[in-house]
Amino acid sequence: MPFTHTFSNKSKDFSMTIDPRILNLPIRLRRNRKSEAIRKMVQETHLTPHDLVCPLFLVEGEKKHIPIASMPGIERLSVDLAVREAKELHDRGVQSIVLFPVLDPQLKSAEATEAWNENGLLARAIREIKFALPNLCVMADVALDPYTSHGHDGIAGENGEILNDATIDCLIQMSLMQARAGIDFVAPSDMMDGRVGAIREALDDEGFQGVGIMAYSAKYASSLYGPFREAVDVKLNFGDKRTYQMDPANSREALFEAALDEEEGADILMVKPASLYLDIIAKLRDQTKRPIAAYHVSGEYSMVMAAHQAGWLNGPKVFHETLLSIKRAGADLIFTYAAKQVLDQM
Ligand code: PBG
Repeated sequence: MPFTHTFSNKSKDFSMTIDPRILNLPIRLRRNRKSEAIRKMVQETHLTPHDLVCPLFLVEGEKKHIPIASMPGIERLSVDLAVREAKELHDRGVQSIVLFPVLDPQLKSAEATEAWNENGLLARAIREIKFALPNLCVMADVALDPYTSHGHDGIAGENGEILNDATIDCLIQMSLMQARAGIDFVAPSDMMDGRVGAIREALDDEGFQGVGIMAYSAKYASSLYGPFREAVDVKLNFGDKRTYQMDPANSREALFEAALDEEEGADILMVKPASLYLDIIAKLRDQTKRPIAAYHVSGEYSMVMAAHQAGWLNGPKVFHETLLSIKRAGADLIFTYAAKQVLDQM
């Protein structure tokens, strides 16, 4: 039976009719899998250390490394140890880290003012890491959740609604603080409308044209962020994040969000979480020429680690396969807690 197969690549579709009777030859795809050498020759997707962005959790103090129960193998680090960790990662080929401060509860407030403290934990960490490792690309989240007393990503109004424009004013302060400390990319993860454009304008006005914006464009209201919230010690006092983070049921909306962020000046567009959202990554790949980042989030890490610890699967191998799949779907960069386990296999 002849059959028509449509191949597609990024720019066009083409089809060819394959008739094994005319060829009179069986099609043997297994020839290209025969040996390690041939498999390597025909391998379509490659993971490299350059693809990885490693999140680091920061705490006050010195020589502190505090385990995170729900994320086996990951610790909160004081800045001195974070510098050491960043150096080790950089020595192994990783080009970028992203910083998440764990705040003293006393510094949290309804106004989240600690978020732009020029001498706060995050500012000091950015300065020290950039001083020690000027060639490492340093990013940091721009969202208020570590700093608000209620744990939401924005300023809350009287009825508990998260106020878009009041929050953007804070995000601008926060971005400028990070820029002054030496950040390479600010990473707005708050999902307020219009924040990318507002941050771009504020950065440019202050002379920070060289500071990039890595926008969490399609950030879903996912149940996979639980371990992260334990790591940064953020509990939601009321409600949930569904009035600003996206409904997991939607994909057109994700493309719309990403297109807006791009128009507003985002340099990198992110899809988050990653492995349950490969369809979104693939569709976004067709829509944009911008680099795409995917966040392999805490829950994606912890599920595999739990199964690994139970002896039910091989964690490092599952991580390698997962990250390869994320890249195959179209991501250029992958934020992941499994970086070291995957680097060991490169
Ligand atoms: C904060 C933020 C979150 C994550 C990254 N930045 C949590 C959230 O939005 O609730 C999640 C990362 C992870 O789960 O690894 N805005």
